[in-house]
Amino acid sequence: MTSPRKTYIIANWKMNFTPGQASLYLQRLSNRVQASRDIQVILAPSTISLQPLSLQINRRQFKLAAQNFYWRDFGAFTGETAISQIRSFVDYAIVGHSERRYIFNESEKDICEKVAAAIRNGVTPILCIGETALERKNGETKSAISAQLHEGLLNVSAEDIDKVIIAYEPVWAISSNKNAKPAKPADIAEAQELIRKQISRVYGKETSENISILYGGSVNADTAAGYLEIPGIDGLLIGNASLVGDSFCSIIETAKGIRNER
Ligand code: 13P
Repeated sequence: MTSPRKTYIIANWKMNFTPGQASLYLQRLSNRVQASRDIQVILAPSTISLQPLSLQINRRQFKLAAQNFYWRDFGAFTGETAISQIRSFVDYAIVGHSERRYIFNESEKDICEKVAAAIRNGVTPILCIGETALERKNGETKSAISAQLHEGLLNVSAEDIDKVIIAYEPVWAISSNKNAKPAKPADIAEAQELIRKQISRVYGKETSENISILYGGSVNADTAAGYLEIPGIDGLLIGNASLVGDSFCSIIETAKGIRNER
């Protein structure tokens, strides 16, 4: 069966690579990865690298994503970058990543304002949601996911919901966390189902079938296939393994192989 939804393979480089290193990585990747109709490869470098990479990138082959931005469009906000200032460089923006939520204390209000700001500026937000280890231990996984989804989409109208991508990233599965362990496919399948059900209740069944849901957390070249085969999972958000060109290329090849089998 052919899925009408694309497969997204996203490199979240986090706070790694200078602009020069990022450019070299992109150059090498460009020589190895063929553009594909079904697979969208997205690179999320640091803000400082967005402009130079946007000049270098072939947008038919790869797209760029911002890792972060401030939700106001301009003004006296020292040190911040507005999505309106970088929107010509990117097609996507990661919003609500757990490192933003828990290290930088981003609130649900910040996150829903950022989702709205991205949409207003013609950029697709990738809204990250996921429970902490403690929430999972306390049996609060469903309520945590559900609340973050609800809050993140508060400002998103029925007209705009098709411009949003959701990424399920359980905090305890992200490699930078102490004792991180990869999520089990059954847990991801369950979260994916919960997200689609909630989207269906608010925005209707068709929207819930069309929305893209990604998984992120300790994905590497060996485990990517298992995650991409979970029904309803439309791609991967990759941290650590995306820093190594060979691993990232191998994950892209795996995604292509799985699409070709469908
Ligand atoms: P890791 O792949 O390093 O666990 O990071 C996942 C992530 O946070 C992607 O946004």
